[in-house]
Amino acid sequence: MTSTAWIVLTAFWFHLSDANCPPGCLCTSDIVNCGSVGMERFPSVLPPTTSTLDISHNRLTWLAPGTFHGLFRLNVLRIAHNQISLLSPAAFHNTSTLHHLDLSSNRLQIVGKHPFQDLLGLEELLLYNNHITHVENNALVGLSNLKKVYLSLNQITDFPFFSIRKHSHPKMVTLDLSSNRITQLPLDDIVLLPLTLRRGLFIHNNSLECDCSTYRIFWHWEKEGYEAVRDFKNEYSCRMFGDPLTSVNFLHSPRFFDNCTIEKMISLISPKADMIVYEGDQVRLDCTAEKRWQSGNPICPDARLRNLPLPNCGQGQDDQRNS
Ligand SMILES: *[C@@H]1O[C@H](CO)[C@@H](O)[C@H](O)[C@H]1NC(C)=O
Ligand SMILES: *[C@@H]1O[C@H](CO)[C@@H](O)[C@H](O)[C@H]1NC(C)=O
Ligand SMILES: *[C@@H]1O[C@H](CO)[C@@H](O)[C@H](O)[C@H]1NC(C)=O
Repeated sequence: MTSTAWIVLTAFWFHLSDANCPPGCLCTSDIVNCGSVGMERFPSVLPPTTSTLDISHNRLTWLAPGTFHGLFRLNVLRIAHNQISLLSPAAFHNTSTLHHLDLSSNRLQIVGKHPFQDLLGLEELLLYNNHITHVENNALVGLSNLKKVYLSLNQITDFPFFSIRKHSHPKMVTLDLSSNRITQLPLDDIVLLPLTLRRGLFIHNNSLECDCSTYRIFWHWEKEGYEAVRDFKNEYSCRMFGDPLTSVNFLHSPRFFDNCTIEKMISLISPKADMIVYEGDQVRLDCTAEKRWQSGNPICPDARLRNLPLPNCGQGQDDQRNS
């Protein structure tokens, strides 16, 4: 090859790779940074080697169908601080390699199933500080790799807790619903959340009503040392009679909950499956529960309940029996 031909070829190659890097962006081997470049539309061409794409702090308003076609290695996508109010249902078509999606500080109003259903590899979904009022029942269905979902600082009034179970979302450790407008918690669904997720369920700074069942749950979770409650203890407030002016802290004002006899609830009777049991209910105890009991672990918040009949657990027996 003559040196002239070589120079022409090299120049051509450089031209090609430059052409793939959108104007104003910085492109490395697999990182493309288009942060704060005043972009109004998603770039039409990107390097196919892109694994991390940062388009934060721009003026994008929507994501068209197949926006990420051809980016077969896309792993991290940051589109925070734009003006996105609409995601086309096929926006993330063919982006199953994506692990981290940051759509925080945009203008989304609804979390629906469609845009997200293709994100089979998704582990972290950041949707905080949008205008979200509604999360559809099946929004997170099928996203079995999810670990952390951030929905804080929105206007959500209820969340489909029943759609998150150990078998469907075995890796979930964080669900942040803090600073929303939740007034009541569906406790029956919440106690069935996977244990790892209950520890990381952030629901402080909402508009919760001061009712006994919610109080009992938080009381219990604090005793258990769940991080989400322990770390934000000062922000677990509720409204007496639904009035925002009569705000009371669940965990600092026990006298307001004098009438909520926590002793009426035994929780965590079985270490395998949490349950809430009220006085007068029939309880099924297993032998593991008795061992915990005997070893002095606080299964039961009140001594009066120690009179409950226990199963007759012989040595080596771990089977379940009726109490
Ligand atoms: C989706 O990806 C597969 C391979 O991963 C490819 O064959 C197919 O053409 C892609 N579809 C679109 C619409 O890009
Ligand atoms: C509590 O939530 C409101 C919005 O509901 C928000 O403006 C405020 O910053 C939050 N406070 C804290 C301490 O997070
Ligand atoms: C507790 O119950 C008593 C009797 O029903 C009632 O008078 C009192 O106001 C209640 N206390 C609170 C804090 O609700």
